[in-house]
Amino acid sequence: MTTLHSGSPLYRLRVKWTRLRWHLRKVIQRSPPKGDVYYGDMATLYEAERTNSPRWQCEQQAVTTIFERLPEGLSVLDVPVGTGRFLPVMLERGHHVTGFDASDEMIAITRRRAGELGGTVETVLGDATHLPFDDGAFDVVLSSRFLRHILPYGLARQSLAEMARVCKTYAIIELGCRDRRSNPPGEDKPMRDRLSHADTLALLRAHGFEVIEEFHTTRRFYREMRIVFFLRKTGT
Ligand SMILES: C[S@@+](CC[C@H](N)C(=O)[O-])C[C@H]1O[C@@H](n2cnc3c(N)ncnc32)[C@H](O)[C@@H]1O
Repeated sequence: MTTLHSGSPLYRLRVKWTRLRWHLRKVIQRSPPKGDVYYGDMATLYEAERTNSPRWQCEQQAVTTIFERLPEGLSVLDVPVGTGRFLPVMLERGHHVTGFDASDEMIAITRRRAGELGGTVETVLGDATHLPFDDGAFDVVLSSRFLRHILPYGLARQSLAEMARVCKTYAIIELGCRDRRSNPPGEDKPMRDRLSHADTLALLRAHGFEVIEEFHTTRRFYREMRIVFFLRKTGT
């Protein structure tokens, strides 16, 4: 594949075309999964467009640090798994990883990555608002770059409830929030940073999670705080 420079007009045209194709696909599918499902160049260019950003690297660091603190050999659900960006540390720690996503194309990239790493990953295609797993099926549930902006708020809460249901002990969940009063989003709008830090903690508590540690991935002068929450299921 030709690599295009991100500033070139051809590159911008290609990104626009990809987005258009993606919207058309959503219209054509009879019952598309809810949320922004990544296909085509959105899938193939996903990492190339992001891995150099400081926030991506902070997230990698945060999740790696958390896994290094957890025991080895756990069952982990990564939802949505995307391109399997956290597979290296999870496989290195001997975890049994299930990668869940609504996009077969993202899942294909994850499977390829697992193969390149000489490991295995179980992959499941589906909608994160209805997880096809038993209660407490996973020692750890991991979710990054998802609840904040991929689903509207109502469905994000539904998906968070599903994550809590299938989680036995630990969760690693990335969310955005603000250091001022909440301005709650409508049910049909993504939450982004509309909740205050206190209300974000309340949301997590309401779903049965207590915070072990927070890893902030944005610099202080950003109005929005993006946080990787290291969580424990209450009562475990
Ligand atoms: C921004 S990516 C995040 C991927 C990965 N967690 C990461 O941190 O890079 C969002 C992913 O959510 C998937 N997705 C969108 N809607 C979904 C849904 N309803 N259920 C499961 N996955 C979904 C997309 O296909 C895409 O792979």
